Amino acid sequence: GLKKKEVNVLCLGLDNSGKTTIINQLKPSNAQAQDIVPTIGFSIEKFKTSSLSFTVFDMSGQGRYRNLWEHYYKEGQAIIFVIDSGDKLRMVVAKEELDTLLNHPDIKHRRIPILFFANKMDLRDALSAVKVSQLLCLENIKDKPWHICASDAVKGEGLQEGVDWLQETHC
Ligand code: GTP
Ligand code: MG
Repeated sequence: GLKKKEVNVLCLGLDNSGKTTIINQLKPSNAQAQDIVPTIGFSIEKFKTSSLSFTVFDMSGQGRYRNLWEHYYKEGQAIIFVIDSGDKLRMVVAKEELDTLLNHPDIKHRRIPILFFANKMDLRDALSAVKVSQLLCLENIKDKPWHICASDAVKGEGLQEGVDWLQETHC
């Protein structure tokens, strides 16, 4: 068959936000891991949609590994940025990391699409995607296509909408 267009995606966000759980849900069921543990460094994962073949750099969000992120910015053709919508205390830390990303020379002047997942929407006290987008000041991102979806990565809810958006933005 026709070879699918390949896209390198960086999956970023604080530790415990649900990055690995999201990527795992996007893989075919026979390739899914049963237990998900905190990522050490990063892990390279692959998944396909109808028209694209994604290679994901699933980065660790732990503080001591966040300095690894920037080494992969040049190769990234899209970003998935995951936020724990229930972690109000660290929303400001998530914003700091996002702002650092957006101001990095390898990202700043590129029209690289950013998909945000306001994840853990199932938690009783989760903030809405609108509220998360306000707290992160996403409306200030004017030079890159971006989109935010609420998701529950454990149940796999909200993920398809995001991936559909990424696929359309890349075609
Ligand atoms: P690092 O690899 O340390 O950066 O973390 P991560 O962002 O990859 O998070 P991971 O996918 O390991 O998930 C962290 C924890 O959150 C796990 O216990 C997941 O089961 C849980 N989790 C992930 N997504 C959701 C969600 O949508 N809802 C709830 N309730 N829990 C979630
Ligand atoms: Mg992880």
